[in-house]
Amino acid sequence: MAAIEALLEKTIGLDSTSVGSATVMRAVRRRMESCQIDNDDAYLELLNNSANELQELIDEVTVPETWFFRDLEPFRLLAEHVSQEWLTANDGRVLRVLSVPCSSGEEPYSIAMILSDIGLERGKFRIDAVDISARIVNRAKRGAYGRNSFRGDEGDARDRHFKKVDDSYELNEIIRGSVNFRCGNVLDDGFLFGSEIYDVIFCRNLLIYFDRSTQSKVLKKLHGLLTPTGLLFLGHAEGGCVDNTMFKFVRRSGAFAYHKTMPSKEYSSSYDSPLPVKARDVLNAQIKSPSRQAAIPRSNNVGALFTSDITTVRTEEDLIEEAKRHADHGNFALAGALCEDCLKNYSYSASAYYLLGVIREAEGNSILANELFHKAVYLDPKHHQALIHLAVHAEKQGDMKSGAGYRARVQRIMTVDKKQISVSSKS
Ligand SMILES: C[S@@+](CC[C@H](N)C(=O)[O-])C[C@H]1O[C@@H](n2cnc3c(N)ncnc32)[C@H](O)[C@@H]1O
Repeated sequence: MAAIEALLEKTIGLDSTSVGSATVMRAVRRRMESCQIDNDDAYLELLNNSANELQELIDEVTVPETWFFRDLEPFRLLAEHVSQEWLTANDGRVLRVLSVPCSSGEEPYSIAMILSDIGLERGKFRIDAVDISARIVNRAKRGAYGRNSFRGDEGDARDRHFKKVDDSYELNEIIRGSVNFRCGNVLDDGFLFGSEIYDVIFCRNLLIYFDRSTQSKVLKKLHGLLTPTGLLFLGHAEGGCVDNTMFKFVRRSGAFAYHKTMPSKEYSSSYDSPLPVKARDVLNAQIKSPSRQAAIPRSNNVGALFTSDITTVRTEEDLIEEAKRHADHGNFALAGALCEDCLKNYSYSASAYYLLGVIREAEGNSILANELFHKAVYLDPKHHQALIHLAVHAEKQGDMKSGAGYRARVQRIMTVDKKQISVSSKS
């Protein structure tokens, strides 16, 4: 199984700790069953020899979760940026937008709807949308969606841009025709090689599945694909991946947007610019939708949810994985309850304290969040993400000395880790 995880990491950058080894294992087992193979080595050999089967496994293991106008604020900022700045500075030019990963199309189509709503005619903008999963890209091209794709604050966009046919909502031809879908792997050296650069890039909810070095590689690529004044949008949990030598945060809460810093600067993977998740706004934006609010179970229902889900005992890793998934989808209440349940059984779990800290911060409780990050560091003194949050918190309080102390600790940890990696790769 480790060899299959390593192959997935090499091919699509999937860090199995981000989705959980158990999830990867379940996907592999499903594919092995379909291929009627019951031996890991034989399946690995098939993967190494069949591009089709590798693609099938990628389709099985990737997380396609998405919906129209996810997070809303990025789309609002996009509309303002284009109408108030971009159009004035770029009269007559075609606006170029990239959505990667685009999953089943809700994100690039939301972009197309918003651009059309601010009066940009078809032909005045071009949206390229890329995802690694061929199955998902084909679904996106059809432009037909179920109710589950409308979980955001889409307002009356569904009524204006879709036609209801039986249980499905079909997107109108004008919006559909303004997005060019293709299958592609953001990690490939030739990814979008030779394409024009983009005025706006949406790369949301991808970096969270990658390890640090893959995140750096992808950010460097996006930097090269963005115009000097372009806008990059990341997912709400991905601010910590960004290095300010390369991108600087746009101070607009809930949008998670970045401009390029000096275009020629080389990207360094030091960890000195975490951006705290701008929390209260995220939550507010999400609970505005009544359907989502109804979907958040109360904390004391969570245990029941576990046992009805699967009958085996949940491991620490499984619980955290599930909590992360819910946090990623904006279900902070459920994600927090899962972390608390995890801590009841695994009181030593630095990861649970850390994730709970991120969630409390996202809910606007930075004092509690800070305590939780302290606990994470107490349990795991090398927990660099918790240390970064502590540094940011100290600095916000004006305690620059403590902030510098935490950052120095992070640097030491990273230096030791890098040395260990280079020793182990030499030996
Ligand atoms: C959670 S969805 C994000 C969709 C959308 N950006 C959003 O935020 O709603 C993640 C997508 O990443 C795609 N993906 C994973 N690894 C990829 C890679 N190396 N290159 C391109 N797409 C990838 C998956 O197929 C999946 O559809």
